[in-house]
Amino acid sequence: MTKNNNAGERRGRVDRTGEWQALGEHREALGEVSLRELFAKDPERAERLALPVGDLHVDFSKQLVTDETLRLLRELAAARGVAELRDAMFRGERINTTEDRAVLHTALRAPRDAVIEVDGENVVPAVHAVLDKMAGFADRVRSGEWKGHTGERITTVVNIGIGGSDLGPAMAYEALRPFTARDIAFRFVSNVDGADLHEAVRDLDPARTLFIVASKTFTTIETITNATSARGWLLDGLGGDVGAVAKHFVAVSTNAGKVAEFGIDTDNMFEFWDWVGGRYSYDSAIGLSLMIAIGPERFREMLGGFHLVDEHFRTAPAEQNVPLLLGLLGVWYGAFHDAQSHAVLPYSHYLSKFTAYLQQLDMESNGKRVDRQGEPVSWQTGPVVWGTPGTNGQHAYFQLLHQGTKLIPADLLGFARPVAELAPDLAAQHDLLMANLFAQGQALAFGKTAEEVREEGVAEELVPHRTFPGNRPTTTILATELSPSVLGQLIALYEHKVFVQGAIWDIDSFDQWGVELGKVLAKRVEPALTEGAEVPGLDASTGALVSRYRELRGR
Ligand code: F6P
Repeated sequence: MTKNNNAGERRGRVDRTGEWQALGEHREALGEVSLRELFAKDPERAERLALPVGDLHVDFSKQLVTDETLRLLRELAAARGVAELRDAMFRGERINTTEDRAVLHTALRAPRDAVIEVDGENVVPAVHAVLDKMAGFADRVRSGEWKGHTGERITTVVNIGIGGSDLGPAMAYEALRPFTARDIAFRFVSNVDGADLHEAVRDLDPARTLFIVASKTFTTIETITNATSARGWLLDGLGGDVGAVAKHFVAVSTNAGKVAEFGIDTDNMFEFWDWVGGRYSYDSAIGLSLMIAIGPERFREMLGGFHLVDEHFRTAPAEQNVPLLLGLLGVWYGAFHDAQSHAVLPYSHYLSKFTAYLQQLDMESNGKRVDRQGEPVSWQTGPVVWGTPGTNGQHAYFQLLHQGTKLIPADLLGFARPVAELAPDLAAQHDLLMANLFAQGQALAFGKTAEEVREEGVAEELVPHRTFPGNRPTTTILATELSPSVLGQLIALYEHKVFVQGAIWDIDSFDQWGVELGKVLAKRVEPALTEGAEVPGLDASTGALVSRYRELRGR
C-alpha cells in the first residue's frame, strides 16, 4: 500500500483499500462483541487499554475492540498517510486545498522560539506580538486603567460574534469561571435575533460596557448587524458622541479595512490570520474576552495545554497516540457499526457548553460528502455530535443510550477534584457526581442480563423491559481538575481527533462551503419579507410561507 504525503495528491478511495476490507472482514468475524467476555478473557484489559496524554487519563477499555481491531485501524491510518498529512499541517503546507490555505492553529500555541513558516515567513513572532498586545489590553481592563468615555471603569465585557467567533470564548469562559475576574461580567451575543442583544444589554450601563466585535471576516451579517445595533445602544446611552466608540468598541479580525469602515480604531484591533480556521480560533485573538476574564497568565497556561497535546500528536508512536486512537475509533463505528452519532457527556457543570463547541469543531469540519478530488464519498463521514452535562442527560435521553435500538458511542468526561472555591458541603457532592459517571460507563458496557433481572424476583413479563443489553461503547477521560491547561489539552485532543478522521476519509476538514447557500438565500429572501419584493426563483413552498409571514406581521 503506497503512502500519501501530499494533500492535493489523489489518495484513492478508502473503501477500496486492502486495510478497509480487512477491517470489514474482521468486523464480520468478531460478530456480536461482548464486553463482559472481553474483560473476562483478559484481566489486563482495563490497564492495557488506557493511555495517558498530558494530564488526561484516557480509558478506552470499554470500546468494542480487540487488539486485532486496533492493529488493523492503525494499519489503515498508515495506509492513508495520516502521519504525513499531520506533518504537512504542522509544517504550514496548504492542506486546506479548496481554500488554498495553510492550517496552522498549532502555531497559535507554539512557544516564542519556535519557527513555523508560511510561504517562507516565520509566523511565530506575529502570534506572540498579538498575544502580548492582548495581554496589555486585558491587564488594563482588568485593573480598571482602561476607562470608558465618561471615565468609568469597565464592569461588563460583551463579546459579539458567531460560530467560531463565539462558541470558543463562550465555552471556555464557562469552563474556567472559577479562574475569572469576578468583578467583571461577561456576556456573549451571537444570534441575529434582536432578543439576544436586548437581553445582554438591558440591565447594563453603557458607560461601563466594553464590546468586543469578533469576526474573522468582519462581514458576517449576524455579527455586523448586532455590532451596529450595539453601537446605536451605546451612543444613545452616552449622548450621541461618536468619539465614545473608540473607548467602548474593540475588534478581533483578519480584515483591517472592514474594521476601520465600521468605525473602530485599528489600533484597537487584534489581528489573526487566514491560516486560522474560525472553529480553530479561540486560542487566537478571538479569545480576547477569555483573556480579560482569566488574565494573560492563565491564558498562556491554557495555550501550554494545547501545545502539550500538539506535541503528543506530532511525536507519539501510533500505539500511544491518543488523538489518533480516538479518531480511528470513530471511523470504526461509523463504517463498521453504522453508528450515526457520537455523544459527548461531560460530568462537569462548567463544561455546559463544551459539546456545543465540539459540534461546530466536528460537524463543520467533517460534515462533508465529497472527497478532496470532489468525488462523492460512499462511506460515512462525520457523525452527529451531541450531548449535555451527564447527570442532566441521565434524566432525559440516557434511556435511549441504554435500551434504544441505536448504537451511540459516547465520551464520558470527569475530574477528580471539585473546583477549589466550592463550600465544603458542595464539594462533598463531587463524589456523587463522579459515582454517576462511573456507574453510567459500567451500565452502558456491561448491562444487566435477563438472568440477573430474574434473580431479583422481577415478574417474567417485565424481564425484557428491565434487561440492559450492554456493549454500548464509551471512552472515559479523567483529569485531576478542570484547569486552563487541562481545557487546552481537551480541545487540542478533539481538534486532532477530527483531523485524523478527515485524513482517513480524504475530505477537506478545513473548509465550510456548506454554510454558504443558506446565507446567500437569506439575503435574497429578506427584501420579500420587509418590502414584499419579488424574489426571482423563489420556490412555491417558501413563497407561500413568506406570504403567510407577511400576513401575520400585518404587512
Ligand atoms: O458558520 C460559518 C462561519 O464561517 C464559521 O466557520 C465561522 O466560525 C463563523 O461563520 C463566523 O465567521 P466570522 O468570524 O468571519 O464572523
